Amino acid sequence: MLGSANLDLVFSVERIPSPGETVLATSTASHAGGKGLNQAVAAARAGASTTMIGAVADDDAGRVLRAVMHDADIDSRLVRLSSEPTGQAMIAVDPSAENSIIVAAGANATLTSLTDADRAAIRSAAVLLMQLEVPIATVTDAALAARESGVVVMLNAAPANELPDELLASLDYLIVNEHEASVVSGIDDLARATEELATRVGRLVVTLGSDGCELWEGGTLAAKLPARRVTAVDTTGAGDTFCGAFAAAIAEGADYEAAGHFATVAASLSVQSHGAVPSIPLRADIEAVLGA
Ligand code: RIB
Repeated sequence: MLGSANLDLVFSVERIPSPGETVLATSTASHAGGKGLNQAVAAARAGASTTMIGAVADDDAGRVLRAVMHDADIDSRLVRLSSEPTGQAMIAVDPSAENSIIVAAGANATLTSLTDADRAAIRSAAVLLMQLEVPIATVTDAALAARESGVVVMLNAAPANELPDELLASLDYLIVNEHEASVVSGIDDLARATEELATRVGRLVVTLGSDGCELWEGGTLAAKLPARRVTAVDTTGAGDTFCGAFAAAIAEGADYEAAGHFATVAASLSVQSHGAVPSIPLRADIEAVLGA
């Protein structure tokens, strides 16, 4: 895993405020988060041996996040100590479980290059999973290093951004939601955006929230997987849970569709409780649903 780690400050609100509007929170909480850490925890809880490359500060938030990595059995020796403050996210969650997030990158933005030890870890991995909350040049560098060594390269293009051609060309899997598909492709219409992106990467996974996900391969729709019907209380980190669980399944040899089912179940479990890291299920929980 190469990616971000944030301390999430979560405000439960009756309504996400419009520009210029002030609303009162009904409750607040603070949780471990960050797309990189969420996905690393999801992979580790799904049973994958997980190493994290990232950056936090020697501050209270950094210590909380390091403790979370330790508790999840994530190897954090490649997580640098940054002089910038640990990343933070301000998250508003409404009663329909939707959220709105602002991230202050802090230490995550200092991940501007790879060390020899990072490269060695990447080359010895089965899967490299990344997102876009750390500098895109470092993501690209890591993808190229992984690709050269035959490591499976996955990118979750979140937060949405255009991707350099060399990064797109080095991916085995691109995982996007509907919004990210439009931004990455530069096409507003989801169907056209998906078809266009599917021709540019080997495998494209489009997550569709409560509608499940689509698995594309070689420009063709290989499978459409429904999501379980559940009562969602907080969707924060659901996409991250999907990505981490999916990577764990692919790393242990699951086929594309089985990995998609596993990840869809993991994400459906995560939306049933609050917070990003706290809501990520264990492998046993996922298997209990799959076996039911
Ligand atoms: O995807 C959810 C995550 O986005 C939150 O944990 C927050 O830290 C931001 O990175």
